[in-house]
Amino acid sequence: MNLKDLYIEFFVSKGHKQIPSAPVVPENDPSVLFNTAGMQPLIPYLMGQPHPYGTRLCDYQKCIRTNDLDEVGDTFHHTFFEMLGNWSLGDYFKKEAITWSFEFLTEVLNIPVERLAVTVFAGNSDIPKDEEAINIWKSLGIKEDRICPTSDDNFWIAGETGPCGPDSEMFYWRSNDPIPEKFDSEDNRWVEIWNDVFMQYKKDENGITELPSKNVDTGMGVERVTAILEGVNDNYLSSIWSDVIELISNISKLPYEGNEKSMRIIADHIRTAVFISADSSGIKPSNTDQGYILRRLIRRAIRHAKKLNIDINSDWDQQIAILILNKYKKYYKELEDNYNVVLNVLKEEKLKFNRTLEKGLREFEKVSNKDIDGETAFHLFDTYGFPIELTEELASELGLKIDIEGYKEKFREHQEKSRSASVGKFKGGLAGNSEIETKYHTATHLLNAALKITVDKDCHQRGSNITVDRMRFDFNCDHKLTDEEKQATEELVNKWIQEGLDVRVDEMTKEEAIKSGAECMFIEKYPDIVTVYSIGDVSKELCGGPHVKNTSELGHFKIKKEEASSAGVRRIKAILE
Ligand code: SER
Repeated sequence: MNLKDLYIEFFVSKGHKQIPSAPVVPENDPSVLFNTAGMQPLIPYLMGQPHPYGTRLCDYQKCIRTNDLDEVGDTFHHTFFEMLGNWSLGDYFKKEAITWSFEFLTEVLNIPVERLAVTVFAGNSDIPKDEEAINIWKSLGIKEDRICPTSDDNFWIAGETGPCGPDSEMFYWRSNDPIPEKFDSEDNRWVEIWNDVFMQYKKDENGITELPSKNVDTGMGVERVTAILEGVNDNYLSSIWSDVIELISNISKLPYEGNEKSMRIIADHIRTAVFISADSSGIKPSNTDQGYILRRLIRRAIRHAKKLNIDINSDWDQQIAILILNKYKKYYKELEDNYNVVLNVLKEEKLKFNRTLEKGLREFEKVSNKDIDGETAFHLFDTYGFPIELTEELASELGLKIDIEGYKEKFREHQEKSRSASVGKFKGGLAGNSEIETKYHTATHLLNAALKITVDKDCHQRGSNITVDRMRFDFNCDHKLTDEEKQATEELVNKWIQEGLDVRVDEMTKEEAIKSGAECMFIEKYPDIVTVYSIGDVSKELCGGPHVKNTSELGHFKIKKEEASSAGVRRIKAILE
């Protein structure tokens, strides 16, 4: 049995319900591009909203972290990874969480206790040292020298605000060298394998306060722990990757040794591209947000395929994607459902990049009558997807110099910009569901229902995004809305608001919900038991909430803009005033 199955089986045996992995693109959370941790889709529940599945949950969650995209190529960075997690929503706390972590590591994974060490929260001016966690670890047989209190690394929060708390990280001695008695956080032979967060606080602009209940959030990375269990020091040599690497080696007719970097990049980037393009959010390569990340991943993989002298016009990318699709589809149904979508995304983006490659070469000819400055090199990279190595190579053939430092400077500036953009996006995440955002959420349901009457009964939600200033709603529709349609939609939503319709929430099985005609955009996201929000008898949708109690709370609904979003999809921006 593999790690994922062992983990789920263990926590189910401890009374947990397995919940499905949420899509990689968070729904109704404009604060992040992708889910970056298992707890992220659970933020509303960690903040106190009841979860339809109860108080003990476990899952494996698809996560994507792109801050380190350019680091991929070493033995352990990945842009996509799976995170195992178990949660207590006001149910058990430190004793059970730590005891079960220990039991799973030592009795299920059979890790000898001599190879383990832990860190715990050392305390700060707001929160005391975690003596309780220290005592529990001691009682389980972890020696005092292997229990290390720290203040900086042992407090966990996703971003700037939201649920948070002291944590306890578990480390594994990943080396054949003799195991030291004392844990040393500076010694990278100690590798972190699991994190138990005791989420009893929430942080907002006013500081830290207690949450209504004490929660547990844990996270274990599948890639890293699999490599450890299989005794390999390079994650890409573990069973998660070895067949993909072997395929790339066969396609390129080159050995892994000596070509590790490009092969790891191709393997990692194609896998992430597969999961993004199979996601129910329908992301396609583009120049913004998630679509831009998808584009960068595919192009970088192509560039490295070229470096390995793979004929990029051949079906190398399809072969790799097919291997990955087949490998993961047992765990993620959307890979099966969107098999052809994924293959087409890769095929089309490759065609497009081949076109800019040609244009970029022509541009290079134009600028190559003198040494290449940093700005030009960056322009070739940024606009034509030209790797700096290619520009360097072309320049040297002509005996030209290239200002690599100037290029790096431009690159860093650009990276800074995109980093701060993504940090900015994190602020005030789902956790900050304000009153106005809650109102917009209910207005979204009304708009979804109204469009079916005023425009076309087959209009369905394709996406939504809510900020404190406005709501944005994407739906399928083959034409630009006429003024009459817009007016009728606005009037209908306002009529429902004036009627003061009650918003009701019911729990039922997914089948019952679908049968009752409830709308649902991401079917695989939902567990077997779901919450359905009904508004009077005008709207019924599967949804995690939150919503207002009565539509009379919404004020006046006004459409500010109606525009095309993508082929066959229209976008409405609206406000409540
Ligand atoms: N949220 C914590 C982490 O990502 C534990 O799940 O490490």
